[in-house]
Amino acid sequence: MLSRSALRTLTPSSRLFSSSAPRQTKVAVLGAGGGIGQPLSLLLKSDPLVTSLSLYDIRGAPGVAADVSHVDTGSEVNGYAADHLDEALQGAKVIVIPAGVPRKPGMTRDDLFNTNASIVRDLAAAVARVAPDANILVISNPVNSTVPIVAATLEKAGVFDPKRVFGVTTLDVVRAARFLAGISNASPNDTPVTVIGGHSGATIVPLLSQSSYGKGVTGDAYAALVNRIQFGGDEVVKAKDGAGSATLSMAYAGAKFANAVLRGLNGEKGVVTPTFVKSPLFADKGIDFFSSNVELGVNGVEKIHPIGQISAEEEKLLEACLPELKKNIEKGKAFVA
Ligand code: NAD
Ligand code: LMR
Repeated sequence: MLSRSALRTLTPSSRLFSSSAPRQTKVAVLGAGGGIGQPLSLLLKSDPLVTSLSLYDIRGAPGVAADVSHVDTGSEVNGYAADHLDEALQGAKVIVIPAGVPRKPGMTRDDLFNTNASIVRDLAAAVARVAPDANILVISNPVNSTVPIVAATLEKAGVFDPKRVFGVTTLDVVRAARFLAGISNASPNDTPVTVIGGHSGATIVPLLSQSSYGKGVTGDAYAALVNRIQFGGDEVVKAKDGAGSATLSMAYAGAKFANAVLRGLNGEKGVVTPTFVKSPLFADKGIDFFSSNVELGVNGVEKIHPIGQISAEEEKLLEACLPELKKNIEKGKAFVA
């Protein structure tokens, strides 16, 4: 049996979440009945910064809410079925969107566009109407296109605030730290990696040269590590063999990113993490969404950090990233236009 102190070290709120003085924060999950939505809702229930949890899905959300609501943390939980989206969004400060279909083996994330683009657009239109000041955290793929879709939908409604729309790329950051730790015989706490660009294959650019462990990885080991970070999603899709894509690691990553946003909203300083936002970094190349380190604060995006010094290999990765990212972004914008 585990001792009390051992149990404490396993508690998600101590391992996954950092907290500062909590204030009233309602968080909504749209797609809460799904493979990501369910464990994400559970992890958000464990986050001390969440005071109210609103779970919405076109299928199954009231059941998930009833289940999660028995967890003995402070937040209240409410579940909303298909025709109650507006109620679910009322007063939400943070809205996490994992609604939409996942990949099957052989598919790219872009193959999900036809189904997920309209799901995300319609949810964003409801947010624009009911909770226009909320921070929107987009998980649904293809993130490189769904984030521009959300932005353009809010823009159309006259309520787009570039500081409050985020593509969740945290799973790439989580994977990079884990995979680098694995080959370095180190703890992932000591191997954080900044990952920039977008969230699909070649658009995922890990900056290993900026990591003390990462810069020591060279040659074939470097190529293999970059490839694993860029295609970690495919590894899970293949292993699940038709049953979907990453759900549990994504729920972990989504809860981690939501906690970072909440800490920023609560006034904590120095909360910095990569996320895909409207960004000036490559706007001169016609790419106006990009993931780089972003400081989070009371207004959402506080400061977009430059990418900093990168290696010759990373220059090449970035060269491969930009044209594909541009295409994905334009596809999202064109869908709303
Ligand atoms: P899933 O099929 O298990 O769950 C999706 C849920 O969305 C379902 O419960 C479904 O009922 C719901 N849904 C569909 N249309 C909806 C609507 N209009 N409103 C509300 N809910 C709706 O899929 P999943 O495995 O949870 O993946 C969800 C999405 O997240 C996929 O697009 C997947 O590609 C993406 N994803 C992104 C990342 C990332 O790193 N950003 C990681 C993993 C998965
Ligand atoms: C991931 O990176 O795991 C997700 O984007 C899901 C996928 O389709 O790979």
